[in-house]
Amino acid sequence: MKPKILIARAIFPEVIAKLAQHFDVTSNQEDVLWTQPEMIEQLAGKQGVFTTGGERIDATLLAQCPQLKICANMAVGYNNFDLDAMSAAGVLATNAPDVLTETTADLGFALLMATARRMAEGEHFLRAGLWTRWRYDMFIGADVHGATLGILGMGRIGQAIARRGAHGFGMKVIYHNRTRLDATTEAECKAAYVGKEELLRTADHLVLVLPYSASSHHAIGAAELAQMKPTATLVNVARGGIVDDAALALALRNRVIAAAGLDVFEGEPKVHPDLLTVPNVVLTPHIGSATLPTRLAMANLAADNLIGYLVHQKPLTPLNPAILAP
Ligand code: 8YV
Repeated sequence: MKPKILIARAIFPEVIAKLAQHFDVTSNQEDVLWTQPEMIEQLAGKQGVFTTGGERIDATLLAQCPQLKICANMAVGYNNFDLDAMSAAGVLATNAPDVLTETTADLGFALLMATARRMAEGEHFLRAGLWTRWRYDMFIGADVHGATLGILGMGRIGQAIARRGAHGFGMKVIYHNRTRLDATTEAECKAAYVGKEELLRTADHLVLVLPYSASSHHAIGAAELAQMKPTATLVNVARGGIVDDAALALALRNRVIAAAGLDVFEGEPKVHPDLLTVPNVVLTPHIGSATLPTRLAMANLAADNLIGYLVHQKPLTPLNPAILAP
């Protein structure tokens, strides 16, 4: 008998077909957003679950799903997983790293440019029929080329953004991270390590690419924004909750910083109402990895983790590999 798995959200039909070769699959192509009790009900008898980053897997759920062996996230971020609880329950967690690095870096850089050059404000102005003549000071923005690019969180995506800035736009790159990169990687990214305060004070454009955890909650709040240059721009392509969105909206309104570009939000898909009314912010709906080849690669990696573990006992990208030890 094939093992049973649940796919928690709508996903590419070809990925469902691949999984169906190995498993008895329950899918959710209607894309119903289950509450946790509904998810627990759906998980009855399932050994694996394909999650997409929004489904909370914690001790409460695990206690009621004793047959569950693996949760495979179709996302590199895994703040929806309580990893300690999963390890304690002997449940393997996997994520989908690497395949989305360059695509997400593209979006980060696009957001940086759109923010610095006030593209959303300009478009709204044009669509509103307000463009009646040229003016020397119309939508004056900030240069990206040659400016100082600050990166907070220098993992794979941070490094990919640094390479774009340094090699493509002649930017001076500075970064802050929990651990300093080795000299070869720093040289490849042409990036210099600085303390967080120096990063905040000297960056012309600050991009956030750090993972969300209790320790990165509100890493950028009113105090940090006050340390930034009044001409600076801030971009968040990491996770909602890293920025205090209410404090950011206020800082944008008061011109504490010049502008922001946000792909992620606290409590998304809800967006803080004040962010919707300030003009100097570019908002996108968490589309960092949203290209067809990348989303397909992410879905296939999550599927291959399910097959790798439940069929061959060899997951590809385990997050808590200690539970695999004999
Ligand atoms: C996902 C992401 O689309 O991989 C991640 O961590 O943020 C995105 O690429 C998102 O997590 C799906 O919920």
